[in-house]
Amino acid sequence: MLRLTSCILILLFSLPLNAAQQAAVAMPDSYSAEAAAKVLKDGGNAVDAAVTAGFVLAVTLPEAGNIGGGGFMLVYKDGKADFLDYREKAPLKAHRDMYLDKQGKVMTEKPLYGILASGVPGSVMGMWQAHQKYGSRPWKALLAPAIQLAEEGFVPHEKLVRYVERYIERVKQDRHGRNFDQYFSGMVTDQPFKQPELAATLKRIAETGPDDFYKGETARLLAGFMQKHGGLISLQDLAQYTAEWRQPLSEGWQGYQVLSAPPPSSGGLVLLQMLKMQSVLQDHFAGLEHNSARYVHLLAELAKRGFADRAEYMGDPDFYQVPTDKLLADDYIGRRAMEVNVEQISETAKIQPGLKESEDTTHYSIIDKWGNAVSTTTTINLSFGSGVVVEGAGFLLNDEMDDFSAKAGVPNYFGAVGSEANEIVPQKRMLSSMTPTILLKNGIVTMVTGSPGGTTIINSVFQSILNRHLYQMTAQQTVDAPRVHHQLLPKDTLRHHPDLNEQTRKALEKMGYTLDGRRFGDLQVISRDEHGQLQAASESSGRGRSLVF
Ligand code: DON
Repeated sequence: MLRLTSCILILLFSLPLNAAQQAAVAMPDSYSAEAAAKVLKDGGNAVDAAVTAGFVLAVTLPEAGNIGGGGFMLVYKDGKADFLDYREKAPLKAHRDMYLDKQGKVMTEKPLYGILASGVPGSVMGMWQAHQKYGSRPWKALLAPAIQLAEEGFVPHEKLVRYVERYIERVKQDRHGRNFDQYFSGMVTDQPFKQPELAATLKRIAETGPDDFYKGETARLLAGFMQKHGGLISLQDLAQYTAEWRQPLSEGWQGYQVLSAPPPSSGGLVLLQMLKMQSVLQDHFAGLEHNSARYVHLLAELAKRGFADRAEYMGDPDFYQVPTDKLLADDYIGRRAMEVNVEQISETAKIQPGLKESEDTTHYSIIDKWGNAVSTTTTINLSFGSGVVVEGAGFLLNDEMDDFSAKAGVPNYFGAVGSEANEIVPQKRMLSSMTPTILLKNGIVTMVTGSPGGTTIINSVFQSILNRHLYQMTAQQTVDAPRVHHQLLPKDTLRHHPDLNEQTRKALEKMGYTLDGRRFGDLQVISRDEHGQLQAASESSGRGRSLVF
């Protein structure tokens, strides 16, 4: 399964001394873990570490780490939560029907691969704005580890080498305008992989911040490359790009305060809907064995309702009025929860968006010694994004345009359907499922969580919270316990990790579910145990690394 994207969060509060002195990182690879840990050990805060990690991942995790994509950063500092939206935007020349052929049929490969797949990148602006508001260390120093890894090379993990080889095979069979192999075919095991053009780009960004990327040499390289190959992103698109500080979503759940991503992500909204429905139905959850058929069925019932609302009501709030308050209102959630069929699969066609009666990434989690937390998910969408590297600038571009609804009701790569709320409009941001999340108890961070995985992200994050807080799992158990995913469509289809127990699988099939055993996600979790001590864990199936120090 293609794997992509990334996420961050910040917190500050008073803690018992020993707990306050602990710091932790949960990162998708060892280079980002070590670089971020060093920033923290040298006295930087969680946002400083997040900025360093963000740029290191653009070098060492090319399938998802990026400067050619976008993301969301959830920060909690000085008792206040903040959220930075640096999601990509549709180019000015984009239009609603740009991916339809003459017959009105969606050309499915166009928003996924090649020159027309990319939104205007937001990552460099995001890192800059996060640093301007919360950073404490010099910008240039924070980029130094990434520049060194690009210039002198990094020794790639064998999983990455295999990943790159497989992708190159696919590009050669079906090019779709991708030049990926020209840049990555030199990657082999045990040899430093150098990226000189990327190193030069990062050096310019280190010198002038976003000015280079959005108005300077990198902007000219990107816009010139687009023009040469018939792409849409122009100098004007880059000059006009903005990242936005938004109010994070915040809801109480089982004595915790859950902070998560607002629109243009659907992640926080669907997550909070599911958590709130879980509370309404807690008598049905009480005593259920973890990952028993009954438990999985209840999760599926909650997800179906969340995803029905996602398809109808969620999109970029700057272009479409998302009814957030109504979707989280207690009476609405109560009514939706009461419609859950505890015994049987609810009929798909009957799960309509509820308001009617009256839509490879990578994540990282950080806590610093002051208790600040950052939860960041960032993405170029599919693994290696559009497969297109900007010539002369050496970075991969995203294929985020596929997260728009190319045509109402027609599923995208992740099987998500959408409507007017998420149709393509110039400068609009495409709906996301990224769900960087932080849990607080009495103002103290108890959990920082997030994952890649497209639409599965929401269910991964939801289950990580239930694993930790309903089933008292350690951080490692939390990330490694088999998970399930339901998104309403395709009808009655439950995706599950291959190691979901056989008894549960048989019982679910008997209930009428169609099972799909493809693994998904790569949770990066930091949690605080009952003694106030931090635990950090990366999912064992990935190449992540977690440290507590
Ligand atoms: O923003 C989103 O929801 C997607 N572009 C995320 C893609 C992703 O997680 C890919 N990872 N496997």
